[in-house]
This record gives sequence, C-alpha cells and structure tokens, in this order.
Amino acid sequence: MADGVLGHLPPSALELAYLVAAIFFIQGLRDMTHPRTATRGNLTSSGGMFLAVVATVLYFEILSPALLAVSLLIGGAVGTWLAVSVETTEMPQLVGLFNGFGGGASTLVAGAELVDATGGGLGLELTTTAAIAGIVGTVTFFGSLVAAGKLHGLVGDSPIEGRTNQILQVVFFAGAVLAGLFLMVQTGLLGEAPLAGWLPAYWVLVAAAAIFGILLVYPIGGADMPVVIALLNSMSGLAAATTGFVLDNTALIVAGTLVGAAGLILTFIMCESMNRTLTNVLFGSMAEGSDEDMEDIYEGNITETSPEEVEMMLDAAERVVIVPGYGMAVAQAQHAVAELADLLEENGVDVEFGIHPVAGRMPGHMNALLAEADVDYEKMRELEQVNPTFSQTDVVIITGANDVVNPSAKEDEGSPIAGMPVLEVWEARSVIVNKRSLSPGFSGIPNPLFANDNTSMLFGDAKQSMQDLVDAYNENH
Ligand code: TAP
Repeated sequence: MADGVLGHLPPSALELAYLVAAIFFIQGLRDMTHPRTATRGNLTSSGGMFLAVVATVLYFEILSPALLAVSLLIGGAVGTWLAVSVETTEMPQLVGLFNGFGGGASTLVAGAELVDATGGGLGLELTTTAAIAGIVGTVTFFGSLVAAGKLHGLVGDSPIEGRTNQILQVVFFAGAVLAGLFLMVQTGLLGEAPLAGWLPAYWVLVAAAAIFGILLVYPIGGADMPVVIALLNSMSGLAAATTGFVLDNTALIVAGTLVGAAGLILTFIMCESMNRTLTNVLFGSMAEGSDEDMEDIYEGNITETSPEEVEMMLDAAERVVIVPGYGMAVAQAQHAVAELADLLEENGVDVEFGIHPVAGRMPGHMNALLAEADVDYEKMRELEQVNPTFSQTDVVIITGANDVVNPSAKEDEGSPIAGMPVLEVWEARSVIVNKRSLSPGFSGIPNPLFANDNTSMLFGDAKQSMQDLVDAYNENH
C-alpha cells in the first residue's frame, strides 16, 4: 500500500478511480461522435483524465496536495490560454503539438523508469515495453514538431532527395530497433544496470528514433499534414498505452488504447474521403496541375457575377444549398454565411448546408465553424445525404470550397483526385462559386466546375462577399 494522502486506502480504491475514469473516457468518445454532444464529450473525457491524474499523484504521494494544485493551475492556465488564443485555422498545428507532448512524455516516463531501476533486475517485459514506448513516443514527438512547423509555415520542403531519405529512414529505424533489442538483452535478460556503460542503449534508441521521426515527416507535403497529424495522434496513444504497461497503470493503458484506436480510425476515414491510401500520403505526393491546364479550361469560359445578380437568383429560389470550404475558415465568414441562411429562411426558402467530410483542413472543420455561428445541426447535411438533392436545388452557393466540388474526381480518370467522393453541385439549376480568384485548392489542380454554363463566379473574400449578399438581400426585402 502507498503512503500518499490517499495511501491509507486499499489499492482497489485506486483501481476503482481508474475504472470511473475509463467510463468517462469511453462516454466522452461516444459523445464526440456527434457535433451536438462533442463539447460535452470533451469535458467528460477531460474529467476522466483529471480524476486519474489526481488519484495517481495523491495515492503514490508523487507530489504534495499543494504542489499538485499549483501544477494543475499552471497547466490549466497554459492550456486555457492556448485554446482561447489559437485561431481556428491554426487548430491542426495545436493538435499536432499536443500529440507531440504526449509522445515526448511517454519517452521521458519510460526513460525515468529505467533510471529508477539502475540497480538492474528490470525483467524482459519492462525493458520491452520501455523500448517500444521510447521509440513510438520519440517518433511522435519529433514527427509532430515537424508537422506543426510545416502547417505553420516555419518548416519548408525537405532538402534530402526522396530515395536518400528513404534509405536514411531505414538506417535510423533499424538503429532504434537494434538499440531497443540491446536494452532488452543487456538489462532484461542479463540483468545489468540499464544506464551503465559509456553508451546507454536507451539514449541511442531515442536519438535514432528522433532522426527517423524527422525524416519520416519532413518530405510529406504540408497539405497532407492533417492526415499525418491524425496518425501521430494515434501513435501518441500507442506510446501512452505502452508506458501504461511500463508503469503498470490501468488508466494510462485504457486512455492510450482509446486514443490509438480512435486516431487510426480517423486517419483511415480521412484517407478514404480523399480516395488515397495511407502509404500514398506518407510516401507519395499529389500531382500538381499546370498553368496550361488551367488556361485551357478557363479561357473564355468564366462567367463573373455580382452580389446584386446573385440576390436576384436567390429571390426566385425555393431551395438553396450552401457549400462551405477552407476559404470560409480562412476568411472567418461563418457568421455572415449563417446570417444569409437565416435571411433566406425567414423569406420561406428551404436552406441546407452541404458538408464534405474533408472540407477545410481538419475533420469536422466546417461543422465546428458553423456550430460556432449557431447554425442548426439538422441543417448540416453529409455528402451522401445532400448529393441526391442537388438536382432539386435552385441555387448552390459555394464559399471558399474548391476540391470538394471538383467534377474531375468523377469524370477524369487521370485526375490526381479521381475517385474522391465529391459534392455533385453541378446538378443544381445555378451554381455560385465564391472565392478570390481562379487559384486551385489543396490538390493544386484546375476545377472545370468554374467553366460550366450554369456556374457564375462571385470573386472576393468569403466574409466580404457573404456580407455583400446579406446587404443586397436586405435592401430588397
Ligand atoms: P480547397 O480545395 O483547399 O480550396 C479552398 C479554396 O478557398 C481555395 O481555392 C481558395 O481560392 C479559397 N480561399 C482561400 N481563402 C479565401 C478567402 N479568404 N475567401 C474566399 N475564398 C478563399 O478547400 P476545400 O474545398 O475545403 O477542400 C479541402 C481540401 O483539403 C481537399 O482537397 C482535402 O482533400 C484536403 N484535406 C482536407 C483534410 C480535412 S480533414 N479536412 C485533411 C487533409 C487534406 P482563392 O485563393 O482563389 O480564394
């Protein structure tokens, strides 16, 4: 039995706290599957983690209650500041950093367990889990730093040529694994002190895994980073679960496993929504469209429109679908978009939002922004629900979206996005595309939708253009 503040309680009390925490984690994850309950899910899971941390720290007297309170206050203040001050467009890199810190913590905890046991006698199970936690945690930490740096524009393209990079990846990964095996044999089987000698195996493992993590993420295109971040999220969970085995801590094993599984499922959903394999994201690259392609498609085929003209179309419309994309997030246009939708509804127009699963730059990006602007969840239609309704839609307003409404995905087998499920907006009577120019989106390819007969381009910043539409509509109603 431990001698902390809660140390007089039997171990079953600590296990009970972990069980309650695990129930909180699972319920929290369930709630996160729907935008309406996602905020509650976040709070529930955080509550579970809070309970697990406080119970562990007090039961084993890792910190005094006063020091624990101070630590919680400092950590809580930094977390709150980060969450409040970050722009929604910068959320993916913040999530990336959080994953990285999780991985880094696993590396340090596994290392600390080895330091703690410098007298030897760690056993094979412990050294194996410490080696795995060290490798996965370190790759996650350094990979996440590069991913966040790329998303923030601080890290550029890799200077190392693709083939050389792959060879170096194999060398450093093998180095990390060999150091892990050495640790397992030296300490786990032979019972020698893990940090003895001039070249402690664990630190070699960490150094090799760090270089491997950097080499792995460095060459991946910045635009593929959201998928990489979901994968690193999954790895941070795996590292935490393995550290849970090192520490024999049930709460960490459960939380880590849940994060690992959820992150992996998310990674595959994102790959599927882009019709790409994970291998292609990690080791391939998206073909870019050339300027000639764009000229061929757009030359003489673009119809420009104005807020006043669009207002006239809306005036005659019975059903309107609004399709938001990354540009809405960049412009922070969600409030103006919601205002336009409200106005139309007040005038008897049936309005819905068509949400593509990978619109924007992170899962649920559009749903979160529209929810912030008080758009009813029932109005947000998923791709499968909204696609069959476009043929009965009078006007589609696309604001800041590009790839997710690109017909090449369906019509051009040679297109880099061929096979990606897209919103079939061209089926509607009139299509309004609002963006600042004819520049391509994430995939770098032209969009033949812009040149369609029933498409009109409303050029301008999404927020300004939506506000102009609201003003034009108000003037005439
Ligand atoms: P994109 O295809 O990236 O297009 C966004 C468009 O927004 C751009 O063409 C840009 O055109 C416009 N834009 C930028 N700033 C604007 C502003 N201030 N006002 C108005 N328009 C603005 O976006 P999408 O349609 O949302 O598709 C998302 C893409 O990201 C997909 O290719 C998807 O595969 C990829 N992706 C998404 C995720 C997740 S999880 N969401 C993860 C990985 C990759 P202008 O410069 O001409 O204005």
